[in-house]
Amino acid sequence: MGRLEGKCALVTGASRGIGRAIALELAREGAKVGVNYQSSEAKARDVADEIAKMGGSCLLVRASIADAQEARAMIQKVVEEWGRLDILVNNAGITRDRSLRKMGEEDWVNVVSTNLNGLFFCTSAAMPIMINQNFGRIINISSMNGQTAAFGQANYSASKGGIIAFTKTAALELARFNITVNAVCPGFTMTDMFAEVPEEVQNQIKSRIPLRRFGMPEEMAKAVTFLAADGDYITGTQININGGAYM
Ligand SMILES: NC(=O)c1ccc[n+]([C@@H]2O[C@H](COP(=O)([O-])OP(=O)(O)OC[C@H]3O[C@@H](n4cnc5c(N)ncnc54)[C@H](OP(=O)(O)O)[C@@H]3O)[C@@H](O)[C@H]2O)c1
Repeated sequence: MGRLEGKCALVTGASRGIGRAIALELAREGAKVGVNYQSSEAKARDVADEIAKMGGSCLLVRASIADAQEARAMIQKVVEEWGRLDILVNNAGITRDRSLRKMGEEDWVNVVSTNLNGLFFCTSAAMPIMINQNFGRIINISSMNGQTAAFGQANYSASKGGIIAFTKTAALELARFNITVNAVCPGFTMTDMFAEVPEEVQNQIKSRIPLRRFGMPEEMAKAVTFLAADGDYITGTQININGGAYM
């Protein structure tokens, strides 16, 4: 029997990359999983097929988390389907890298709207359900680049640093309802997002990582599953998974 048997989860941005790995790992542990996507419907269907092959339950939900109404409707859909929501993984995120001197208003607003506002919209919609259940596990995917300087990522770093600060305050306010809130901070991880970084820059980055390799989405998923399944006394903190790149 899986460690998450009987639990219902929602993973935002689960069509690709880290979110996909998280959805699959939660399902492997027996959770029913809501798979959110924005535009990659075919890839989200692949995730649903994988979960079905394991004999798991999955619900596909299209929504842009940057839109408060869509985020709220997505949470409602999951609760209508399964009657509860135990685990919310706020994973969806985007980059629009530019040096500050070139960064336009749109680059800033798009990144903050998705990464930070979207996380708030999903969390605030899930909160009353978790409070009623007197149980919840909220896991926010931040980034190493929310902890340390990253050239060309002022918008992204601000949003990811904001997630860490948000996580602590949410943990403080929600602890009395048996809701834990934690962040996972991946370092450079092999997904479409990181593939956008030019190869020569990737090689420079790799040479500075003590473990001399990039992270795999599955390694982030293991930490998320640990927090969801075994992290009952862990709240308001972050787990760094970066090969030693930031200590
Ligand atoms: N890869 C890294 O090196 C790395 C490092 C640190 C932190 N992270 C963080 O890890 C998380 C996942 O990153 P990743 O590398 O897996 O990214 P990715 O491969 O680019 O996938 C991004 C996912 O987010 C979804 N998404 C984007 N905007 C959305 C929106 N408005 N509403 C709903 N879903 C949306 C995408 O959905 P569609 O496919 O439907 O567009 C996709 O499923 C992000 O928060 C990222 O900041 C990544």
